[in-house]
Amino acid sequence: MANLVVVGTQWGDEGKGKFVDILSEQAHTIVRFQGGHNAGHTIKVSNTTYKLSLLPSGIIRSDKTAVIGNGVVLDPWELLKEVRLIESMGVKISPERLIIADNIPLILPYHRELDLDREKEAGNNKIGTTGRGIGPAYEDKVGRRAIRTGDLRNEEHLRARLKIALKHHNKLRAYPVQEDWLFEHIMDIAKDVIQYIGPVWQYLHDAMTGNQDILFEGAQGSMLDVDWGTYPYVTSSNTLAGMASIGTGVPHNKIPNVLGITKAYTTRVGEGPMETELFDEVGEHLATVGKEKGTVTGRGRRCGWFDAPLVKKTCMLNGVTGIALTKIDVLDELGTIKIYNGEGYEEHEGWLSSTFGITQYDDLPELAKKYISRIEELVGVEIVLISTGPDREETITLKDPFK
Ligand code: GDP
Ligand code: IMO
Ligand code: MG
Repeated sequence: MANLVVVGTQWGDEGKGKFVDILSEQAHTIVRFQGGHNAGHTIKVSNTTYKLSLLPSGIIRSDKTAVIGNGVVLDPWELLKEVRLIESMGVKISPERLIIADNIPLILPYHRELDLDREKEAGNNKIGTTGRGIGPAYEDKVGRRAIRTGDLRNEEHLRARLKIALKHHNKLRAYPVQEDWLFEHIMDIAKDVIQYIGPVWQYLHDAMTGNQDILFEGAQGSMLDVDWGTYPYVTSSNTLAGMASIGTGVPHNKIPNVLGITKAYTTRVGEGPMETELFDEVGEHLATVGKEKGTVTGRGRRCGWFDAPLVKKTCMLNGVTGIALTKIDVLDELGTIKIYNGEGYEEHEGWLSSTFGITQYDDLPELAKKYISRIEELVGVEIVLISTGPDREETITLKDPFK
């Protein structure tokens, strides 16, 4: 058994999508276990760029099974929209290879409206959410009033659940949601969603019995974890590797490998503290060269130097067994590169030559190797993959993260 979970070790957008795509070649099944369509995972294969928010990145390989686990919150309209979009790009998606759990809480229109309303009212205290209803949907899950995927199968039951949910939500709103309208609105798409619903936990256990490897695709980053992140400036799910078990039904002792995707510098979207943020032209340089614009909301990402103690801590919390270091090429043109080491900034001489697209470690400039080893030393985890560009091919493989 060589199951592997991929997580972000910073504030998201570390390049998880790229690596889930690469590693899905070796796995049979790729499964999302938390978050929702607040994620934005970009995968570049030759001239085609896929942007996925809800579907597991494995979906673009036609011989793989993509699974959405119970730890996710799912907007059914967005699911169907994304299925249609990816199908329009030539990828066939059938219920045989997209399976969604029957116990996934749904994101309904009132969740999105509440998310946006709260952000507006919060003024300077806003979180800077993606506005997709993620927080309110998770609140309803814990509040035991969520409508779940399985509820779509029984009209009477769905009606009863909607009554309970609306009793709560209509108290919070300027104008009430009409139950009949919402019921019809949901029934419009219920059949299209139901076709994908299946016993995910059973499917995953059967896959393991058949000795097939499972790849767990994390969303967001460890510093956005609702318990361990920069609370309250976090998302509303647990983003750490431990959630892969709870969010799918695969026991934790069956997921031994944890790949921590780590950007060679730091970025963050939305509000909240960021120790190493740069407000000068170097920060702008990282944003421009790194094309640091949010996939989901189009917002600019805040950029800064690599924060070593932060990544060291998140690697410990996740039990990271290997790091994939990404976007090293974005530092190519900098004369001086800094690393925050917990006590202060140490300065590293830049390599001032292109690393873009390099596939062999030996071809890296000596100063780039030095920077990479210093990160490895400070974080205390082996770097097993290095990314030198957005494409699948632009990767240096030092070790198989499944082993
Ligand atoms: P995710 O949310 O962790 O999947 O990351 P995103 O896809 O939101 O953001 C990462 C961005 O960087 C995407 O546009 C990727 O195509 C791009 N990318 C990934 N790895 C590299 C790399 O090594 N170099 C460069 N220049 N771009 C990369
Ligand atoms: P991927 O998977 C970066 C951030 C938002 C906001 C906070 C809460 O692409 O790495 P939410 O809508 O989740 O309630 O917003 O979390 N955020 C992300 N930042 N990458 C993401 O996903 C994110 N998903 C949410 O910007 O600060
Ligand atoms: Mg992203």
